[in-house]
Amino acid sequence: MRIVYVIGTRPNFVKTAPVIGALRRRLPDSRHAIVHTGQHYDRGMSEIFLEELDVPAPDHMLEVGSGSHAAQTARVMERLEPVLEEERPDLVLVPGDVNSTLAAVLTAVKMQIPVGHIESGLRSFDRSMPEEINRIVADEFSEQLFLHSEEAIGNLRAEGIAEERMHFVGNTMIDTLVALEERIRAAGAAARLGVPAGEYVLVTLHRPALVDGELLPETVHRLAELAAERPVVFPVHPRTRKKMEAVEADHPGLLLSEPLGYVEFLSLLADAGAVLTDSGGIQEETTYLGVPCFTLRDNTERPVTIRAGTNTLLGLDPAAIAGIPAALAERPARKPEPPPLWDGHAAERIADVVAGD
Ligand code: UD1
Repeated sequence: MRIVYVIGTRPNFVKTAPVIGALRRRLPDSRHAIVHTGQHYDRGMSEIFLEELDVPAPDHMLEVGSGSHAAQTARVMERLEPVLEEERPDLVLVPGDVNSTLAAVLTAVKMQIPVGHIESGLRSFDRSMPEEINRIVADEFSEQLFLHSEEAIGNLRAEGIAEERMHFVGNTMIDTLVALEERIRAAGAAARLGVPAGEYVLVTLHRPALVDGELLPETVHRLAELAAERPVVFPVHPRTRKKMEAVEADHPGLLLSEPLGYVEFLSLLADAGAVLTDSGGIQEETTYLGVPCFTLRDNTERPVTIRAGTNTLLGLDPAAIAGIPAALAERPARKPEPPPLWDGHAAERIADVVAGD
């Protein structure tokens, strides 16, 4: 069998690393070719993750870089097509919902190569989010759909997708966390930063709806107010960094840093008193670890994290940041059970399906 894995962004690496590992173990005589689109290219957004997660060096680097949605998607398609011609895969595996995902699915399906979509069936029902468009297209055209939570089944059924394409396997991002949990627990990132475990708020923000428009200066202002009460640690995504420089927002008291590697970041996440984010993956990682998460969005494609009791939707409203200390004081101190099949074995279940076991 010949398998091509297409990855391109930071969360893609975390979701796909265990799948590559499981399939290489299951099908040692098969061809496993890794294509890195280069959507994320800074060392701290890409290489560090591949190294830490033990992803073999990519066989093909497309080096597409940044650009508008159309330009980035088109560049991936143009550069991926000859790679797929050369590799002649029986299956292309793609994770998530980023532009590289969309481009890989379209390229493969037009070449009549079957696609497997890792993390299928998530829906925010908000088509102003680029990721929602990418998810719908990826699920429509992928032959094998690997679901990480039960609500995906209903979402896909509602779009007329046949049951036989759906495989409820669990969450491969949590596989990575489980595999590295010992290293994460021992990493001591909070102590190195001089912030007390269980007290600081860890912040990540990168969605265009929040950082590209009017809301960013007020968000930074609200974070600075929160920092007067408890430490606020904020590793800044490059998109956000550029926007913060452009608005020259004042940010006294915030512990800003460059993007962090996987183990360092997860160590900070595991020891945080709370997390404020607009990321999808972080809503899941906090749910697994039982850390309170506040999501600065109007919706989530991951309602399972709300049901678990760890995640609270604040709305796309920076003023809501002021309510975090009170909300924390009222929270019951219980660590929820992780959602079904978020157990560290999702990638092995994908390997079962792909290998036809
Ligand atoms: C992308 C995904 C988003 C995902 C996020 C994870 C799309 C539409 N968006 O958003 O779903 O949650 O990745 O991080 O695919 N940049 C750098 N260095 C890099 C990468 C990006 O400086 O290594 C800067 C560039 O200015 C670039 C901007 O960040 O224009 C945005 O990068 P891009 O990949 O387009 O989108 P993200 O915001 O990273």
